Parts: sequence; structure tokens; C-alpha cells
Amino acid sequence: EQIEKGGYEHFMLKEIFEQPKSIHDTMRGRILVDEGIIKMAGIWDHLERFKNAHKITIIACGTSWHAGLIGEYLIEEFARIPVEVEYASEFRYRNPIISDKDVVIAISQSGETADTMAALKLAKEKGAFIYGICNVVDSSIARITDAGSYTHAGPEIGVASTKAFTAQLTILSLIAIKLGHHNGNLSKQDFMKLITELDNIPNKVEEVLASTHDYVKEISKQYADATNFLYLGRGYNYPAALEGALKLKEISYIHAEGYPAAEMKHGPIALIDENMPIVIIAPKKGHYDKIVSNVQEIKARKGKVIAVVTRGDEQVASMADHVIEIPDSEECFSPILASVPLQLLAYYIAVLRGANVDQPRNLAKSVTVE
Ligand code: G6P
Repeated sequence: EQIEKGGYEHFMLKEIFEQPKSIHDTMRGRILVDEGIIKMAGIWDHLERFKNAHKITIIACGTSWHAGLIGEYLIEEFARIPVEVEYASEFRYRNPIISDKDVVIAISQSGETADTMAALKLAKEKGAFIYGICNVVDSSIARITDAGSYTHAGPEIGVASTKAFTAQLTILSLIAIKLGHHNGNLSKQDFMKLITELDNIPNKVEEVLASTHDYVKEISKQYADATNFLYLGRGYNYPAALEGALKLKEISYIHAEGYPAAEMKHGPIALIDENMPIVIIAPKKGHYDKIVSNVQEIKARKGKVIAVVTRGDEQVASMADHVIEIPDSEECFSPILASVPLQLLAYYIAVLRGANVDQPRNLAKSVTVE
């Protein structure tokens, strides 16, 4: 096992560090920047099916569901096709409105999750075109879908999903950009800008790992005894906040909640005092000014702010207790970059608490029962 861990103390840490490679592997042969194309066998033959879909429904569980939420933002922004994201366990029991005009995408690392499988079968019965985004080749979900794309992130051993998540975001980005271009919503110029940037994301993830690792490890000492955590983000980074909170609670057993930053005033703000650490994902994009005021509100209540910001940021950085910098990128790819230090934060806090990082209590890597 020590050999399999490749010198890392845990599989989770190894998998976090593998991300520049795993994201690269996800894109390998699929982005051809020089030729200006995205080549994806799975979607190539079905572009019209997607284009004409009344809606796309994404079904998944856990971390894969968070990837699905980001997929919704990506597909709606670039392809302008309506997207709904559902927990597989809810979808399957509520007689969902699905017809043969629909596309249903299942996202699953293992390809074996019972609820996701059952939800897909239901969608298939209702005549939808079903598409799979799986990591495990030849898994049950991969086999029943009409078409799909493997994430090719390599085996993920740690129960808390890390590299599979960023691989899912990569595939969803490719699908959204490809559809957007095919549908005529993305100009050639925007398409080129996006694929060039996506192609460069593995380098940026490498940079994030190198520049944030020691600092995140260091600050985790200050938070190992926390009893609660809040994670906030807006837009593309709202689901990234949900995922950051899930990582922490899964492996450290600290209660953590993710929230869209603006919703803070409808509840979580009541919990903020000097004992509440708040991770805020605030790249200098989109509605940055709104995030600035969220941080002001938190500081006025003495909350401890750990901010993930774009390199060179001054405004949020000047108010935050801890500043984690990520490189600038297109907003739609910022969740990939922001997730990496949050994975490290969850990891180091869990290690300090003596938790079994790779096999947290009560959790399973693949949930094959209901
Ligand atoms: C379990 C795992 C999670 C995973 C979820 C969905 O809860 O512990 O890491 O996100 O199942 O799994 P899937 O294999 O369908 O992505």
C-alpha cells in the first residue's frame, strides 16, 4: 500500500497532487487547440440530440451532484439549453417530467451508485436520451447509457472525491463549450479563448498546488479545533463552496455548511461571531463587488475569513484573516482552481484531528445500496 501511495501519507493527498495530470488526462486527445476543435467521441454523434433537447437534466449524488450544479451554469451559459440538476434519490421517487425530447446526464465517479443507476433506468423508460459521465470504465452506469464520456482521472481510492471532481468539471466544460459552438452561441473567437484557457488549466492547478500547499497546511493548525465552518461563494463558485464544505465534514467531522454568499443574510449570518471560520471564494470576476460587501458584513461580526482570491487582489485580501491566492482564469474554470486549496484545507484539518482520512467513518466510496 505504501508503494501505491507513491510516497504520500494518504491516498487523498496523492490524488489531490495528481490533479494536474488527471485533468490533463481528461482532456487528452479531446482539445486540439491548433486545429481549433473539441473532439469527443461520446458527444460527436449526438450533437443534434443535445441541441434540440427540451431540457437537460443532470442526476447525481454527493460530490458528483456538486459537479452537476457547475455543469448547469456551464451548459446554460454557453449552450443556452435549460438544465435542471437533481439528486438521483429525489428524482427517482417523484415521477419526474421527462420525455423522449429530454437528455438526461448521469454523473458518477464509480458508475455504480444505486440511486443514480435507478434514476437513469427511469429516465430511459420515459424515452430520454441518457448520457453518462463516469470515471470507472465499463461500470454499470457506463454500460446502460446511450452514450457518454469517461473522465479518465485514474482510480480514486480516497473516499472523499478530489481528482474525480475536477475531472468531472473538465468534461462538463468540454461538453458545454462544444455544444455552445455547435449551437452557434459561441463565436469562433470565444470558443478559441475558452479552449485555450481550459487547455492551460493543468498548469494553473500545478501552480496552485505549489503556491498554496505550505500556507494552507500552516493555517489549518488554527482551525483544527473549530466546531463549525461556513463556505460561501457566488455564481460558479457557489457549488464550489458546497463541495468545500462537504470535503471538510466528510473527513474531519467538523460541521460545515456551504451557501450562496448572498443567502448568508437569510440565515447563516445569525451564526457569525469570532468563533466562526468562513471560507469565502472570491475570484475577481462576475459579482466581485457583492462578495466584497459580504466580507465586510462578516468582518463587522468578527467572523474569521479565509479568502480564496485572484492573485494580486487587494480589496478582499485587505479584510481577510487569511488569503489564499489562485491565478486569474475565465470565471467558469475558477471552481477547478479554487477547489484545490479547499481540498488541502480539509485534508490537513482532518489529519490534525487524527481522523482516518482515506476511510472516514460511516462513509463508503461507492454506495451500491439505497
Ligand atoms: C459516495 C462517495 C462520494 C461520492 C458519492 C457519489 O458518497 O463517498 O465521494 O461523491 O458517493 O458517488 P459516485 O460514484 O456516483 O460519483
